[in-house]
Amino acid sequence: MKVELRIKRFDPEKDQKPRWADYQVEVEPTDRLLDALHYVKWYQDGSLTFRRSCAHGICGSDCMLINGVNRLACKVLVKDLGRRITVEPMRGYPVVKDLVVDMEKFFAAYRAVKPYLINDEPAGPRERLQSPAERERYDDTTKCILCGACTTSCPSFWANDDYIGPAAIVQAHRFIFDSRDRGAAERLEVLNQREGVWRCRTIFNCTDACPRDIEVTRAIQEVKRAILFQRI
Ligand code: SF4
Ligand code: F3S
Ligand code: FES
Repeated sequence: MKVELRIKRFDPEKDQKPRWADYQVEVEPTDRLLDALHYVKWYQDGSLTFRRSCAHGICGSDCMLINGVNRLACKVLVKDLGRRITVEPMRGYPVVKDLVVDMEKFFAAYRAVKPYLINDEPAGPRERLQSPAERERYDDTTKCILCGACTTSCPSFWANDDYIGPAAIVQAHRFIFDSRDRGAAERLEVLNQREGVWRCRTIFNCTDACPRDIEVTRAIQEVKRAILFQRI
């Protein structure tokens, strides 16, 4: 099948502002959008710039706005997108070039919530055990691949990019509710600040956008409750 890709392009060395460029591409219906973008880059315009690595929905590097919705280009089939497909960079971060945005602020928020196990208690002779129920408590948020789809689809973040954002809260949740961790108070203090969880207005765009089907809004609510009631 033949599809038209309408891609928002921006080269800071040449362009004053973003511009649209159209490409006709011959694809198999079962090709992913990533395959179509590769076709453009390899055979039509080598200057087209986008991020990708695993091509299998694991690394989280190719999130972009596809027909107006944040998705991973490697997880969406061309046949599900219609004959005319628009592709734009994620909203809310500065565009470096074409579909690549500067995610420094995104990863600064990630680092701020201390996304690693904190436990200074002396290690025993065996590993720190955890029951299946304790593991289940944070299972959902272990699935995050840091793609940015949630944060860049959140209107609260668009209004104020200092908001720490749903992705960082999901990462904090993964450790706050881990029975082996002792760093919950430090993380909750970060998230209780002005640009923390209270910027979330329960809009749910983040949950809709997540390619890993994480219940993002629910995780945020659980963190809010942990702050309010000082109970994990
Ligand atoms: Fe991506 Fe989902 Fe993680 Fe947000 S919670 S960064 S949408 S995987
Ligand atoms: Fe934004 Fe999700 Fe909250 S879209 S306002 S972080 S529920
Ligand atoms: Fe890795 Fe799409 S290229 S998630």
